[in-house]
Order: sequence, then C-alpha cells, then structure tokens
Amino acid sequence: MRILVIGGGGREHALIWKLAQSPRTEAIYCAPGNAGIASLAACVPIAVNDIQALKKFAREKTIDLTVVGPEEPLTLGIVDEFEAAGLRIFGPSRDGARMEGSKAFAKNIMLKAGVPTAAFRQFTDYAEACAYVSGANRPLVIKADGLAAGKGVFVCRTMEQAREALERVMANREFGEAGQSVVIEDCLSGEEASFICLTDGTTVVPLPSSQDHKAVFDNDEGPNTGGMGAYSPAPVVTPRMHALVMQTVMQPVVDTLRESGIRFKGILYAGLMIEGGVPNVLEFNVRMGDPETQPIVFRLQSDLIELIEAVIDERLHEITVAVDPQPAVCVVMAAGGYPGTYEKGLPITGLDRAADLEDTMVFHAGTRQQGPDVLTNGGRVLGVTARGASIAAAIDTAYRAVRCIAWPGVQFRNDIGRKALNR
Ligand code: AMP
Ligand code: GLY
Repeated sequence: MRILVIGGGGREHALIWKLAQSPRTEAIYCAPGNAGIASLAACVPIAVNDIQALKKFAREKTIDLTVVGPEEPLTLGIVDEFEAAGLRIFGPSRDGARMEGSKAFAKNIMLKAGVPTAAFRQFTDYAEACAYVSGANRPLVIKADGLAAGKGVFVCRTMEQAREALERVMANREFGEAGQSVVIEDCLSGEEASFICLTDGTTVVPLPSSQDHKAVFDNDEGPNTGGMGAYSPAPVVTPRMHALVMQTVMQPVVDTLRESGIRFKGILYAGLMIEGGVPNVLEFNVRMGDPETQPIVFRLQSDLIELIEAVIDERLHEITVAVDPQPAVCVVMAAGGYPGTYEKGLPITGLDRAADLEDTMVFHAGTRQQGPDVLTNGGRVLGVTARGASIAAAIDTAYRAVRCIAWPGVQFRNDIGRKALNR
C-alpha cells in the first residue's frame, strides 16, 4: 500500500513510525514532513492547506491511502475533495470537521445529544457579548468560534479579563474570521483528560486514554502551549469513568451527528474536564492530539492500517484494539521562548545517543535536516517518548533520553507524568 501522510509534526512522525511497521506498507510519502520523518518517508514540500496540490500529488503517485494529521485540511474539506476524485482518505468530511472548526456547532450538537458540558451562550454582536459579561458575576471562558490554533480560548477570572478577551477576539479580530462569533461558557474545574476514539459513524472504538500538559512551565504555570508532554493511560479515566464517557459522550455524539445527516468517520477526540465523577466536555477535535498521539501510538499493538481501513469501510464493529498495558510518556523539548518568539536553525546534539536507548523513541516535531546536522525548526522541536513497567519507570526512561539531547536555549517541563504518580 502506498500511503500519503499530511502534516509535519510529532503527531505525524509517530503515525508514520507506526504505519511503517505494517506489513502492508509499501511506500510512505509525507507533506511536508520534518527531519525525523525523512528517515521513514519521502517528504514533499506541499503545505497542509494546499488541497489541490495534495490531490494532484496523490493522483500522480497513485496513493492508496491518505492519512490527515492536522485539523486545517479537514475543515477545508480535503476528505470531500479526495473522495470525489476517487481517492481513499482517512478523516471526517467538511461537515463533520465542524465539530472542531466551530465551537458553537460543537456546543449545539452536545446540547442535542445531552452531553455534559459547561452552560454557554453564543454571540455575534460585540455590544451584546459585553453586556452579558458585565452582568455575569462569575468566572467565564471566552472562545473564538472558529479555528485559532489553540490560542482563541481565554479563561477569565474577572470581568476585566473577560472584557479584554472580547475586545481582542471580537473588536480587534486578533484571530480574524474565527472571532466573528464567540462562545462564552461557564468556567469548570477538575482534572483534564484526552479521550480519543475511532468511529465509522456508527461504532465507536476508544484508543487508550491520555493526558496532555498544556502550560509551558512546571506545575501547570505560564501560558498555554500546543502541549508540553503527555502520558497514557490517564489514571483519572478509571474503568467506571471510561464506561461513562462512552455512554454519555462519545456514542450519543456520533449518533446525534448521524441523525443530523453527518456520518462522522475518522478520529473524534473529546477534551474532558473531570470532577465529582462527571466528565464534562471542554471541546471536540476531529484529529489525533499532539503530543497525545506519541504515547498512544507507542502503546498500540494493532496494525494501524487495519484500524483505518475498518473506519473507512464502516466495519469498525469487527475490530478490537490491542494495546500494550505498559504506560508511555512523552516529554516535549521546545525552543527557548516558546510559546512566544523563539529562534530557529540551532543545531541539535545527542540524537544518536538517545536513539541507542531501549524502550525509547525520539519523535521529531519542528526539525529540519541540513547536511549532516539536524536543526531546530519550530517551537515544539522533539517529543521524547518512552515506555516502562510503571508510569514512574516510563518517566525515568524518557528523562534519561531527554538528558542526552541539547541545543542552545532548550526548555522542557520536569514534571511530565507527575500527576499520574500522585494519584
Ligand atoms: P479548548 O480549546 O476549548 O479545549 O480550551 C483550551 C483550554 O482552555 C482547555 O484545555 C482548558 O484548560 C481551558 N478551558 C476550556 N473551556 C473551559 C471551561 N469551560 N472551564 C475551564 N477551563 C476551560
Ligand atoms: N494536545 C492538544 C491537542 O492536540 O489539541
């Protein structure tokens, strides 16, 4: 099978690493890829949002299966375009991708499906939104309706903060069209977890649970990032909680989408806030998480191609997912200054030493090859992933590999996985 993977981050490196292990894989291409991906796939410099160029490439290279990493091409309708051209592709249609592309759409589906989620109001009028936050005497979360690369969400403790967030999103349009409409919801507390499933539009098959670390510094301090590390499984998702999420969140949402005329095929990812035994949904994504994919895929024993094909061919009910019971941890190594401004093009040392360690894999995110050197090329640079007999052992192994690797200004969190230890 000839496979095209779209994306160029740690998530895509992990997916390609796994796809490369399938006996059915003949060749893998990646657009645009990175230095780590280049050791497993032929990288082609096509942007993830250039749907026409991607389609042309898939035709020319007679690609049998396209796997989409990030949300942007999905919300642009890459699946509809490829399917209309007779190309096989894994992911939801443009309609389905609205679960991530529009916070208001997702909220309304949740409402219809009876899914536990924060109370909310939607506003398209700036003055009305301002009046609402002025009258609400409680913490609120302001969310730009559209895609904003994870930056369009503001947790506001005070009315002042809420007014400022509205000004940035609606008046100044810092996130462009994404801020045409906002969702304002009540602030929830609890422990977050990522619940990521495969679905063919009828059957829902969960992948292992995981937890992300969004804040840049230890103890969840500092600004939010794309994710500074992750581990799997997440102990907060107990067997009872797992069953509850399937019954009260995943299955009702997939059923409601289908009843609304959307057969959702691909990945459905619920970001949960768990408190007092209730799994409230913060958001839905329509693709794998980054960096959650790294530890999840590291534990996955099933052939990923088999799982993807069962989704596309709507026979997920035939599938069980085999998972290594050993926990896995991913520590993200990031450029100094991230998520603010940072330097690129710095040479990374120690990758070969880390590669020699057992039970460890260094997934590349923002890297680029230059001659014999691997250079930094993004905010999140590497996802150092390890497994162990216990979460403590996996953490130790991951940090041993992290200590092999360096470049000027490198930063990483020292407490990835600690929450799981403390439970
Ligand atoms: P989202 O992109 O909607 O998941 O929001 C990004 C982050 O904002 C989440 O991971 C939470 O940490 C936080 N967040 C979102 N919605 C809420 C909420 N209703 N209450 C508290 N925190 C929230
Ligand atoms: N790690 C969070 C996300 O992928 O959305």
